[in-house]
Amino acid sequence: MKMRVLLLPVSLAAVCAADSFDPLKHVNLFIGTLNNGNTFPGATVPHGMVKIGMDTDGDNFAGYDARPEFNVTGFSQMHQSGTGGAVPLSNFKLFPVPQCSAFEQCLTTITARKTLRNILPDGSPDDFASPGYFSTNLSTGVRVELAATRRTGLHRYTFPASSTTPRILLDITNDGQVSAITPELNINPKTGRMTASANFATSFGPGRYNAYTCVDFKGEGYAFSGPSEWGPYKINYPDKNGVDLSQHYYSLGSEHGGLLSFPQDTQSYAGTTTILARIGVSLISTAQACANAESEIPHWDFARVVSDAEEQWRDILGRVRVETEGVDANTVELLYSSLYRTHIVPGDYTGENPGWKSSEPYYDAFYCNWDTYRTLFPLMSLHDPQNFARIVRGMIDIQRHEGWLPEAREAGQQQFIQGGSHGDPILAEFFVKFSDHAAKLGVSSKHLYSALLADAEDQPANWNLQGRQADAWKEKGYIPSDTTYPGGANTKQVSRAIEYAFDDFAISQVAKVLGKKSDAKKYVTRAQNFHNSWNPNITAPGVSNVAGFMQPRFANGTWNYTDPRHCSVNDPLHATCFLNAIRRDGFYEASPIVYSQYVPQDTASLITLQGGNARFIDRLNWIFDQNYFDSTNEPSQQIPFMYHYANAPGLSTQRSRQIISKFYNNSLNGLPGNDDSGAMGSYTFFYLAGMYPLPATKQLLLSSPYFPQISFYNPLYKSTTTIKTTNFKGNPADGTGGTVFVKSVKVNGKAYKSNCYLEWDVFTAGSTIELELTDDINVTCGKGKAALPPSISTGGYN
Ligand SMILES: *[C@@H]1O[C@H](CO)[C@@H](O)[C@H](O)[C@H]1NC(C)=O
Ligand SMILES: *[C@@H]1O[C@H](CO)[C@@H](O)[C@H](O)[C@H]1NC(C)=O
Ligand SMILES: *[C@@H]1O[C@H](CO)[C@@H](O)[C@H](O)[C@H]1NC(C)=O
Ligand SMILES: *[C@@H]1O[C@H](CO)[C@@H](O)[C@H](O)[C@H]1NC(C)=O
Ligand SMILES: *[C@@H]1O[C@H](CO)[C@@H](O)[C@H](O)[C@H]1NC(C)=O
Ligand SMILES: *[C@@H]1O[C@H](CO)[C@@H](O)[C@H](O)[C@H]1NC(C)=O
Ligand SMILES: *[C@@H]1O[C@H](CO)[C@@H](O)[C@H](O)[C@H]1NC(C)=O
Repeated sequence: MKMRVLLLPVSLAAVCAADSFDPLKHVNLFIGTLNNGNTFPGATVPHGMVKIGMDTDGDNFAGYDARPEFNVTGFSQMHQSGTGGAVPLSNFKLFPVPQCSAFEQCLTTITARKTLRNILPDGSPDDFASPGYFSTNLSTGVRVELAATRRTGLHRYTFPASSTTPRILLDITNDGQVSAITPELNINPKTGRMTASANFATSFGPGRYNAYTCVDFKGEGYAFSGPSEWGPYKINYPDKNGVDLSQHYYSLGSEHGGLLSFPQDTQSYAGTTTILARIGVSLISTAQACANAESEIPHWDFARVVSDAEEQWRDILGRVRVETEGVDANTVELLYSSLYRTHIVPGDYTGENPGWKSSEPYYDAFYCNWDTYRTLFPLMSLHDPQNFARIVRGMIDIQRHEGWLPEAREAGQQQFIQGGSHGDPILAEFFVKFSDHAAKLGVSSKHLYSALLADAEDQPANWNLQGRQADAWKEKGYIPSDTTYPGGANTKQVSRAIEYAFDDFAISQVAKVLGKKSDAKKYVTRAQNFHNSWNPNITAPGVSNVAGFMQPRFANGTWNYTDPRHCSVNDPLHATCFLNAIRRDGFYEASPIVYSQYVPQDTASLITLQGGNARFIDRLNWIFDQNYFDSTNEPSQQIPFMYHYANAPGLSTQRSRQIISKFYNNSLNGLPGNDDSGAMGSYTFFYLAGMYPLPATKQLLLSSPYFPQISFYNPLYKSTTTIKTTNFKGNPADGTGGTVFVKSVKVNGKAYKSNCYLEWDVFTAGSTIELELTDDINVTCGKGKAALPPSISTGGYN
């Protein structure tokens, strides 16, 4: 080995040195594990189906709670990240039981077994996580380490010397919701293999799913030929020498699983006994769960599973590089941690589709497209188009079999729709940017387009779970508030209408690329239907100069009224606007004030409706000053950048930086709300990179990055695009002021047409973008006709 190193050619050695930057060192997995961020800090590969992690009895839906007083209840295999609803996919927990007086005396229920972690001198629990690896030390003296491949977890339990009979249980029924029915278990007393399955509730919809598992055990550093004791348990009664649940009466809520005892490792120097548990998971069968485990981790080499996962993470995260001189280390960490969380879901469930057989990739865990279409998929466009293409193929395959693109999906089940049909802007984001490469990437433009048309034109049986309320939309150009429409709960009418308009815009852009001129015209016209929900006569209570709002409307054309402050922090009724089938107010997860700013396809028209540039800027300022900007939900995400359209990009730069400093940081509570499957992570990333994407278009709004230089490697084009700044002087801590405003832009040395946005071709060509920074907030987008970002009504996108 030493010889080889000495023989390295100088140039290669130099490359290695330049490559010493390791993005993994800058990822903090614990951000957002408190404060309802619900992020997942366990072990997974990028877009892995298995997300193996620690479950506690705290309130993080992804299992982990960092508060030391919360007890550990198990180490389960799947999880989601950042979701609301109910606890998802905490199936098949393993748990180490270091000591009981006898097999039959072991306490197996979740309440009886739960255990605190060791607490470090600073009061925090003794947990560690990095991409592809998680570990903790329990107060029982057991050390737990976790690693994962796509469909298999590898657990390493190191029992203390005092544990003369180390035991491990497999909990079949506690999925985080106690929803399991029909549990089954088989124990092989010779090998200790346990196979199990049950039927579980999804976490955000009416559907149920079957899940299957297969666990094998092996001593590390010592050999054992099988368990010394075995048996199923019910509640706190392990049944020694049983091999299945046939003796056990089952009722919902009763706890079932299997328990094994192992011989102690008497040769170990430290007296500890280390047992590996390899656990395969499947949505198809226990046989497939076993096959997944055997094929993905045949070698039982824990360190290798970790380093393979790290390699995958290093590849994907290393495509973004930053220069860090003059930048706070926390900012670098925030950037890579946010990028990391962009690649947890959707999960690659290829081979695990319970619905039908197909040779296409199968992705699941869309949660929800309403959250992720705005920033997550546009970020994948920048540095991960191949995986993006696989996700798109999987979505199209779902549409071809079920009739509808997925919107929210868990374990093969359709879950509740939030806003519009947001498979549309995701497919369009892919196709508008990558149509030239679609065939090569396996994406059929014909199938993609017909999937979009199905959403746009066909009325589903139940628009709470599929597609959209297409008939009413086509007939009226808005979603009427009347209750007389069959096919789903007629709620969220106004926000659905506004989202449908954007979805149709996305379709128009695909039609345009495909040369379907009349379709392009039809859908771009429908994209302007937001006008039909705009009532110019409504003013914000007590604020006469803020006039005109999106409002609910009846089928006969007359208006209902929803207070513009509805479900904002200033709502006198303190209403919320989460999913609720009986709510008639018309808005979802955003106030009328926020949804009245949401027309990314035609902000120029919105400016006209709102009284011109000066009034528009005043209105944006009012939104921020009165706390109507809602950092916890996606419809607000674009608002800080909207000053761009009024030719005041300096105000966008300052506002977006103030939002980051106020709401996003590296602490456990560093997210203002749910991460929403990486929606907030990708959003934070874009802001730090000095951009905001316009999904389904070829434009990205431009501001200044938090780094003197940031570059993106796109493996499809094999090109690197670099954004460089001149005059970089660091980032103001509170986001206010500073030398951060973009005065001029050059691309490859030539003055660019706009200081406010970049065209996609800058990224395909692998360009160098130079931003000249100034401390003058009164910068503009530039002088030429193309300086302002495009809007439909000013001739953009046609
Ligand atoms: C954790 O378990 C300990 C011991 O059973 C118990 O005293 C404590 O209340 C539990 N903590 C919580 C937050 O439930
Ligand atoms: C747990 O204990 C081991 C020593 O037994 C130590 O190496 C490790 O850092 C501790 N913490 C975690 C989170 O693994
Ligand atoms: C707004 O009020 C004006 C004047 O009363 C009226 O003419 C107009 O029809 C109203 N517009 C809507 C959409 O109700
Ligand atoms: C329009 O429909 C609403 C809801 O059904 C009803 O309350 C209202 O009276 C109708 N108005 C007219 C002018 O028909
Ligand atoms: C009109 O709006 C109010 C306020 O949101 C709501 O309570 C009422 O149910 C709505 N009426 C109809 C018929 O939708
Ligand atoms: C970190 O972000 C959270 C969530 O937005 C916020 O509540 C908290 O105050 C922030 N912490 C700091 C130190 O800024
Ligand atoms: C920017 O414009 C505002 C309002 O016109 C003005 O008060 C301010 O002094 C200007 N700032 C600079 C740095 O010129």
